[in-house]
Amino acid sequence: MGSDSAVPMLEMRGITKRFPGVVANEDVDFTVLPGQVHTLLGENGAGKSTLVKILYGLYQPDEGSIAFDGVPVSIDSPSKAIQTGIGMIHQHFMLVDTLTVAENVALGLGKPLSLTKLAPIRRRIREVSEEFGLHVDPDAYVWQMAVGERQRAEIVKVLYRNVKLLVLDEPTAVLTPPEVADLFATLRQLTADGKGLVFISHKLNEVMEISDEITVLRDGRVSGRTTPAASRRESLAMMMVGRPVEFTRILAEQEPGPPKLEVAGLRVRGDRGELAVRDVDIDVRAGEIVGVVGVSGNGQRELAEAIVGLRAIESGEVCVNGCPVSSPTPKRARSMGLAYVPEERMKYGSIGDFTVAENLILVEYDQQPYARHGVLSLNSIETRGEQLIDDYSIRTPNTRTLTRKLSGGNIQKVVIAREFSGNAEMLLVAQPTRGVDIGAAEYIHEQLLAQRLQGKAILLISEDLDEVMALSDRMVVMYEGAVMGRVARADASVEQVGLLMSGVGEPEEASVASWADQVKRQ
Ligand SMILES: Nc1ncnc2c1ncn2[C@@H]1O[C@H](COP(=O)(O)OP(=O)(O)O)[C@@H](O)[C@H]1O
Ligand SMILES: [Mg+2]
Repeated sequence: MGSDSAVPMLEMRGITKRFPGVVANEDVDFTVLPGQVHTLLGENGAGKSTLVKILYGLYQPDEGSIAFDGVPVSIDSPSKAIQTGIGMIHQHFMLVDTLTVAENVALGLGKPLSLTKLAPIRRRIREVSEEFGLHVDPDAYVWQMAVGERQRAEIVKVLYRNVKLLVLDEPTAVLTPPEVADLFATLRQLTADGKGLVFISHKLNEVMEISDEITVLRDGRVSGRTTPAASRRESLAMMMVGRPVEFTRILAEQEPGPPKLEVAGLRVRGDRGELAVRDVDIDVRAGEIVGVVGVSGNGQRELAEAIVGLRAIESGEVCVNGCPVSSPTPKRARSMGLAYVPEERMKYGSIGDFTVAENLILVEYDQQPYARHGVLSLNSIETRGEQLIDDYSIRTPNTRTLTRKLSGGNIQKVVIAREFSGNAEMLLVAQPTRGVDIGAAEYIHEQLLAQRLQGKAILLISEDLDEVMALSDRMVVMYEGAVMGRVARADASVEQVGLLMSGVGEPEEASVASWADQVKRQ
């Protein structure tokens, strides 16, 4: 922790940045002390990335000033930023896949990639890597590295330049819980070494864990400054959203009904022909939420697509209400009572060039009362649209607005309103709150619980561990296409689930008894 007398390493004063139609930063003051993690917290679009892009010389502010180590600076390019002592780990990685780590570092330095020139670089990468516990092999090719390793390589690349201040823009978005723990250990070593860190996140638990200071942005302005000791998740959320947010989710006690959706021994191939889903068994009963957790890319998407008939099944079975669905198609799945909120809401969930009202009836458009004898009834479409916009608090100018003009969170509400308001008995919901603001996420969570109370059988697939843990009666953890473990809500711990997510443990064999049986035996 920096003491009060410490001279700020970074002082940004009165920063304002306008883009056409939006003030991304308005009169923002932001200070970082040496040896301190200063977090920028805020919802999507709050202006966090804009502020650090100004710091890194990618944008010029319209107003305001920056001082580094007490000296006014003008940062007009990333190379000037690095020269000043400021490095940045971007939200999207910037390494060249086909090169090794050492070659990437050399490239960044403008050095030729010859073997002799690389020798000192490789040595220093090893030193830097060791000093900060980063475990980066200078000779590893970037394309061969897992996401967490790539991020560590980026950090090495930046530290190589002897920066004093390191900016990390949403570094944990792509990491598993154990990788987050490793990253935080590295960050602590960096601050112990006197470096200043700007950490960007919208995940409150992480922010509480790693920050010394927290500055909250809302709509481009500073809406609060605090420390973890002086705040709770609720107060941080209040600063982010501007109103109270409910976190504790109480799953009403409810005896689940009969199995509605059963998946047995499912094998599904991915886009490149690889076995993406390996012998997965899952069953969901009426009135319960079963959560599927895993790091992105471990078969969850293929699993969902196979269940709703968007992807061929290699072997195994999908049963609805006890009946096998012979060759599932989206239409057949729907007619058997399965509603689907897809991960890619723009691609599969909605049609951007249709109006909000049209998207709200998209799956029932050919049925009464919206269509009679092949003619659409505009009146009933409008009425239905108005009702759902109201019920689901969809922020849209009116029913006739084109859906693509809405924010991501509101498009998601359109899809959810449509899928939840029908008479489907089963819901397959994938990444319902990805890219959605806390406020909208809270609302979507309430709706999911309401659907559970109505007795629907809900399969919830999400990368957001907090979300799944808060909402699910039981959880299935997927890793490399297989089930790594099953956990009941009551005995779930983040640590245990996190380990399963990162592949620690034994994947299930093909022939395990159905889970329903296991639960009964307990
Ligand atoms: N290059 C740009 N051109 C126009 N608008 C932008 C640009 N970059 C960001 N914005 C807008 O500025 C606001 C803040 O965005 P950003 O700084 O990316 O937020 P955050 O990182 O907090 O999610 C948003 O409304 C965004 O749409
Ligand atoms: Mg951002």
